[in-house]
Amino acid sequence: MDEKKFVLGQYFTRKEIVDRVINLLLEYKNYYKNIEILEPSAGTRNFIEGLKNKGFTNIQECEIDENLTDKPYDFFLFNLDKKFDLIIGNPPFTKYNVKESYYNKKKYLSSVVSPAKYLTKSLIKKDKIQIENTFILKAIKHLKDENSSIGFVLPISFFIEKKNKEIKKAIMERFNTIVIYQNDKNMVEEPIPCCFAIFTNTEKLKDRIILIYEDGKKVKRALNKNSLLTSELIPKTYLCKLQILESLEGEPLSDFLSDKVIYYQRDYKKNNISGANILSHQKIPEDKEIKNYVLAVTRVGNSSVGKAGLINIKEDILNDMFFVFGFKDEFNNNKKMKELICKLINENQEYFKSITQRVGSKSIKKMDIFDFKIKA
Ligand SMILES: C[S@@+](CC[C@H](N)C(=O)[O-])C[C@H]1O[C@@H](n2cnc3c(N)ncnc32)[C@H](O)[C@@H]1O
Repeated sequence: MDEKKFVLGQYFTRKEIVDRVINLLLEYKNYYKNIEILEPSAGTRNFIEGLKNKGFTNIQECEIDENLTDKPYDFFLFNLDKKFDLIIGNPPFTKYNVKESYYNKKKYLSSVVSPAKYLTKSLIKKDKIQIENTFILKAIKHLKDENSSIGFVLPISFFIEKKNKEIKKAIMERFNTIVIYQNDKNMVEEPIPCCFAIFTNTEKLKDRIILIYEDGKKVKRALNKNSLLTSELIPKTYLCKLQILESLEGEPLSDFLSDKVIYYQRDYKKNNISGANILSHQKIPEDKEIKNYVLAVTRVGNSSVGKAGLINIKEDILNDMFFVFGFKDEFNNNKKMKELICKLINENQEYFKSITQRVGSKSIKKMDIFDFKIKA
């Protein structure tokens, strides 16, 4: 049973989430009640019930699992002549270590619905593709016209910068408005971090991405559409970081730290500096040369991330938990400034903690440290 769940990506959307995201969809566009709708992976039919409750009448569905439907149908065999005003649901997600959970084009090569009709030229060369990505690409081909939309629950990791570039490009070519919604609840019956994404075209929000995060209150921000390819658009972390940065006053650390790569001693076993003791290295000892001290910031770990210390580049050995930064030449002999920067980072752990809350990767990027502001 569990095996099937992972192969078919059976994580059903909770009813309260379905109602919330349908309402959200309706905030961004007016849809007539008789529009043609497809739920391509209907599962336990929560989306279909939610849509019917809102008065929508014209809904078709696919569901591959014969235990969930009397008429099992594989979405990838569903005829591409069928076009819809709205395609909405929660496609199966590939589990990275379950081979059968990937879309495999070989299964469909002899079908009349040829993979070449919906895969991009470079993706068609691949043996396996994440199934949620293939659902997006095929759903695009089922849209009726410019006015048609897609609303999908997606793993939040879909929006990580540099991931799924090709799918993101296909989305950008077809749609001018993207809404990415996240809240503090589990969207599916498993603790998989998800969001609800709306891909559509509007006049009012042309070339905009709207990020929304709700946890009792609602935080919302409009970004340029191109940021889909250049930023990590996870509403919670993105909006949280922005809010904190806006509340901080002063100069970004990029004014003080050098962007040159620092070579330091790193050893998993012989290290004398780790996340556990970095906080006891916030001062430069009186008998040491100030210029030998660089900044080490813990880059991973729920409780350690963002903890900073000043380490001696010639003597100290670190484990692999750190980003290490040199200081700009004008600050290299400035003991007071080096210690102040270290102290202010440690006093603002909340900043680093809140930008790491993406489940699956409790880490920060070098950029997060350069962006952090201090009042020197
Ligand atoms: C993540 S669940 C979501 C179900 C439903 N949309 C919801 O939100 O509750 C994905 C569903 O897709 C079905 N599925 C997997 N591969 C499919 C395919 N190729 N065609 C149609 N349905 C598929 C699974 O059996 C599962 O019920």
